[in-house]
This record gives sequence, structure tokens and C-alpha cells, in this order.
Amino acid sequence: MNNIISVPRGTQDILPVESRKWQYIENKLRELSNNFCYEEIRTPMFESTELFARGVGETTDIVSKEMYTFLDKSDRSLTLRPEGTAGTVRSYIENKLFAETIKPQKLFYIGPMFRYERKQKGRYRQFVQYGVEVVGEESPMIDAEVISLAYNIYRSFGIENIKVAINSLGNPSERQAYNDAMVKHFETNIEEFCSDCKIRIQKNPMRILDCKIDAGREEITTAPKLLDYLGEKSRAYFDEVTKYLDSLEVKYEVDPNLVRGLDYYTHTAFEIMIDNPEVELKTLCGGGRYNGLVEMLGGPEGEKGIGFALSIERLLLALESENITLPLDDGIDLFIVFMGKATDYAVKLTNDLRLAGFKVQSDYFDKKMKSQMKLADRYKARYTIIIGDKEIEEDKLLVKDMANFSQEEVSLADLELYLEKQLRGE
Ligand code: HAM
Repeated sequence: MNNIISVPRGTQDILPVESRKWQYIENKLRELSNNFCYEEIRTPMFESTELFARGVGETTDIVSKEMYTFLDKSDRSLTLRPEGTAGTVRSYIENKLFAETIKPQKLFYIGPMFRYERKQKGRYRQFVQYGVEVVGEESPMIDAEVISLAYNIYRSFGIENIKVAINSLGNPSERQAYNDAMVKHFETNIEEFCSDCKIRIQKNPMRILDCKIDAGREEITTAPKLLDYLGEKSRAYFDEVTKYLDSLEVKYEVDPNLVRGLDYYTHTAFEIMIDNPEVELKTLCGGGRYNGLVEMLGGPEGEKGIGFALSIERLLLALESENITLPLDDGIDLFIVFMGKATDYAVKLTNDLRLAGFKVQSDYFDKKMKSQMKLADRYKARYTIIIGDKEIEEDKLLVKDMANFSQEEVSLADLELYLEKQLRGE
């Protein structure tokens, strides 16, 4: 016998018991997106490597360590997308969405992303992100809407133990002043930091605050705070955003050390954390404003953007840690039990009822009536119909309610209406 081939490290199969949850979650995410007037965008799962190098930033962990990059047969360097913002913005530019009459464009996506990460709970090498991007215009109201959408997604699943951490990363010149102060602050002891931080201090000192290795060091807590380097305009913008968050009743905390792991951010940056001391991996969702990205990727000047992304894997972990069960309907409407010469009749009826919109199953293997009833139980059928020669002859089908075992005789002509009424109350 041949060896079994396993699923690649850091990936998983989603089997029917789990995929029901995924479908429920995805449907709800689509419904919320729709209510907030976001429209779906679908971009390729791989893009030119340069898109992420330029968009996400060469010094980020994502680009420097975690990308699945390969050469195709024509020697083009391609990368499995590690995130959705760069691809969405590329598409926005390439398809001239900036010329649309509705601005900003409010977009969302659901799809797999790929990062070569160390495997641990909540960290996968293929994971599914739901994300939104609002591109074209800027307003503190938009920032607050985006944060509120992310916050209320969790609440709509019953996850109440969450908090939003928010910060402002200012504009590029404010960041430059801040980065200079960071270099001054860290340079004395930089030799004691990890090898990545020694590069970060030269290329992007702010990223030291995001280091997973040096996270506990005193220099990190005492580091200069970006909020102190904001000019009047940026500070006022940030204050407006928090004002709207107050009126939208979003619970948030200002975290001056929040820098995020991607380079494109300016001004508002935020993360949503699970507020439960027993959960190790706390970040559920992250996002922020990226006012320079459209231009950086070759688009027109002044096109500003903001968005966030969350993974469904971590949403599921949060549901688990908060002991929330999703209200899934995993049963079927009807199981058709048949005997004698009723096979043809049952096969046709099963098909007709399916096409009429009911979830219907019947047996394929000439099983005894008792075994068919057992199967109906396994399928969690709400109703069964028992059909034999006599029932067909007299046109009286025996419909049984499996919750209370009451039975009623219904003619074939009345069956659909009867089921409709019983199942949907119509
Ligand atoms: P990010 O913080 O890199 O941001 O990822 C966003 C979310 O994706 C994380 O909070 C987490 O829920 C999930 N995630 C990231 N890596 C993994 C992983 N290895 N396994 C499971 N889940 C993971 C972005 O990706 C930005 N594009 C967000 C954004 C959109 N900013 C503006 N617009």
C-alpha cells in the first residue's frame, strides 16, 4: 500500500461539520457588508511579487520572511497573496475605479491568503480573510464606520469580550520626526536587540515596537510615542475619529505603541483584541488608513484609503473561547421512506420536492422500513413521508412530524403547500 499524503503544514481541510459554520459565518459577513453598502471585489490569488514588495513594504515580516514566492514558466516572479489590500488597490487603479461616480468605493473580499508563518494556534499558512477597503476619499466618519463595522461583526456573533486598540501613525513627515526620535532612543542599546531590530533601526525604526522577540524589553515601553509627534491637523483628525467612535458606542482604548505589521499605514491604525486572559493569541482583526498607497502603486494622487481584515479561523477560535455555539440548522426538511413498488414514485417525488425548494433525501439501497426510519433520524429530518403501494393507489401520503410523531394524510397535489405551511409557516 502507498503512504498516505498529508495536508501541507499550516493548512487544514474543512470538513462538512466545520464547513457549515464557515458558510454561516460567510453568509453573515456578506449580509453585514451589504447592509453597510460594501460591494464584493474578487482579485487573483497570486500577483506580481513587486506589488507586495512595494505595497506592503520590504522590511515587514510578511515580505521579508513569509511570502510564497515562485517563478512561473516564463520566469516571472509571482507571489501567493499574503493579504488583500495591495491586490484590491492594484485593481482599483488598473480598472480606474477612481473614475466611478460613487466615491469612495466601498469594497469587501473573502478569500484565502498565504503566509509562511510558524505554525501555532490561530496562525495558519493558508487562512481566509474577510476584509473591507474604502478607497478614494477621506473622512473621520469613514474611519469610524470601518472600525464600527469590524467591531460589530464580532458582536453580531455574540462575542462581547472584545476591545479595539487604536492609534494614529500620522503623515509621512510626522513619522520621519518620530523615526528620528526612535533612532536616538534605541541606538545606545541596539547591540542587545535581535538581528532583525538591528536592521529595523536603520530602515524602519518604528517596526522595533512590533518585534516578537524583543517585545518585553524596557526600551520598548519607554519608547517615544507617535501621538506626541502629530501635528495639529493629524491630531484633530484623530480626535474626530474617536468622537464618532464614542457616538457609535464602540469600546476602544488608545494604544500609543500600536504600529501594525505593514508599511502602508498613515493616520488611523487599529486592532481588535479578544479581552480574555486565558486566550493566548489575542488579535482578531487589524486595519488602518493608507493614504499614500494608491500613489505608491502608480495610481493618481490624493486617492486615500482605509480598511481592515480579519481571519475566519480566528473568529472561530474566538467563538470557541467564548463558548458560543452558532445557530446552525444541520437537519433536512424531509426524508421519504418507501416500500413495495413505490421506488419510481419516490425517486421522482424526491427530485420534484428538491426542485421545489425543499431539502429532501431518500434511501438508495432498498433498505427495510426500520432502517430507512433510522436513516431519517441520522439526517435529522423534520418530516418523513411513508409511501407504499396503498398510499399511491389511494393518493394519501402519510406525512409524519418527527418532533411529536403526529401524522397526517395529504394528497400528492396538496403536498408542496402542506410542507410549505408546516416548515415555513406560509
Ligand atoms: P494583518 O494584521 O496582517 O493585516 O492581518 C489581518 C488579520 O488577518 C489578523 O488580525 C488575523 O485575524 C488574520 N491573520 C493574519 N495572519 C494570519 C495567519 N497566519 N493565520 C490566521 N489568521 C491570520 C492585513 O492583512 C491588512 N491587509 C489589513 C488591512 C486591510 N489594512 C487595511 N486594509
